[in-house]
Amino acid sequence: MPATVVVGSQWGDEGKGRLVDMLAADSDMVVRYQGGNNAGHTVWIGEEKFAVHLIPIGILRGKLSLLGAGMVIDLDVLLQEEEELSSRGIEVRGNIRISENAHLILPYHKLIEEQEEKRRGKRAIGTTLRGIGPAYEDKVARRGLRVGDLRDRETLTDRLHDAVDYKNLLLKKIYNARGVDPDRTYHDLVTLHDHFADAVCDTSLLVREALDSGQRVLFEGAHGTLLDIDWGTYPYVTSSNPLSGEVTAGAGIPPKLIDRIIGAAKAYTSRVGAGPFPTAVDEATAEQMREPGGEFGSTTGRARGIGWFDAMVVRKSVRLNGIEELGITHLDVLDQFDQIPVCVGYTCDGKEVPSFPNQVTELDRCEPVYETLPGWKSDTSQAKSFSDLPENARRYVDRIGELAGAPVTYVLVGREREQSIIR
Ligand code: GDP
Ligand code: IMO
Ligand code: MG
Repeated sequence: MPATVVVGSQWGDEGKGRLVDMLAADSDMVVRYQGGNNAGHTVWIGEEKFAVHLIPIGILRGKLSLLGAGMVIDLDVLLQEEEELSSRGIEVRGNIRISENAHLILPYHKLIEEQEEKRRGKRAIGTTLRGIGPAYEDKVARRGLRVGDLRDRETLTDRLHDAVDYKNLLLKKIYNARGVDPDRTYHDLVTLHDHFADAVCDTSLLVREALDSGQRVLFEGAHGTLLDIDWGTYPYVTSSNPLSGEVTAGAGIPPKLIDRIIGAAKAYTSRVGAGPFPTAVDEATAEQMREPGGEFGSTTGRARGIGWFDAMVVRKSVRLNGIEELGITHLDVLDQFDQIPVCVGYTCDGKEVPSFPNQVTELDRCEPVYETLPGWKSDTSQAKSFSDLPENARRYVDRIGELAGAPVTYVLVGREREQSIIR
């Protein structure tokens, strides 16, 4: 299957990094198509932890790694990521390509987001404060700067000064905060651009050439379907479309070229940031699961909220993304329980709800309906094949796949590369 997408089917951090890393071994190219460094994708190689935010995780396998047009890129963070990976023996320079159409995250985006989150007070979204939302706002308002705009220094000076003047007015007059220095911003930007200039191109041409010549291209989704700007728990969402459909706009290929869509889902649910979370467990249970599940934000270090598996959520993702197979991660974290509740539906005002509501106000009135499955109370982390898993674990996996509406083809039972089961 030449074009494969791995998409998050919950609220992010499903273990996409692990699945992509596994599939990248047999791919020629890995492509991020949206989002920015609000993402954090983790892979452990032995005792070494690798967490990437902008560069596709395929870089760890030495694959050509593309940052697509739908992304928002903070070149400063990209440089830090390059330096860190290079210092750990990963070849970055020769293996990354950056879309000239991707938008830039600039210093004022981060300052504005900080002020805006403060202003929202108890309605804050709990963003990663990486400037993601404000950068996408500028893109849609047609006043953003793209990576390719850094080439033409004459127009850049003009456009950047104009942008900084406008943002400084906002920062100083509306938020009563400090502004940014236009000359320093210009200088930093052109220095960063010159560093990456060789890697900047029309990445859509590379993806198309690869697909046309029969190469295998893997699209690395970021965040998750319930964080999608159109289909997530708005306004508690990110500012891009993590959905598989965004591969076409964000990477620049037609929909018909996509062959395979894999949904990443935890065997339970996690969520970081504000917003509704119907199946959230009590804090004592969450604490029991956080350590084994590595449930601390890869980007911000925040402790993630934990809940039981929610079939309403994953079913919505299966439908919206066209997921035909699921990669279930973190099964090992459930080893400790006698019984495991799984949410099979919701009721709202006593009535059954047909599908996951789009309005958070409706979602707030929903009550999850649980089915309780027997636990297996034994270690799954050493299982090498599906048949190595205890019977109740196999039943659990099949039941959540059945409830979500897609078969489970991968099961991950630990944070390390070897702890992966291909079915
Ligand atoms: P992503 O954003 O979807 O790539 O996920 P993250 O990397 O942000 O978060 C997943 C966390 O769980 C990381 O700390 C991983 O090391 C860890 N992890 C991934 N898969 C598994 C698994 O199957 N079992 C356990 N215990 N941890 C896992
Ligand atoms: P990966 O790719 C989990 C969440 C933030 C916040 C909301 C908006 O690692 O799965 P933003 O900074 O994007 O404006 O924040 O979205 N969020 C994520 N949560 N994993 C992610 O990415 C996320 N990316 C954004 O916590 O609630
Ligand atoms: Mg993550």
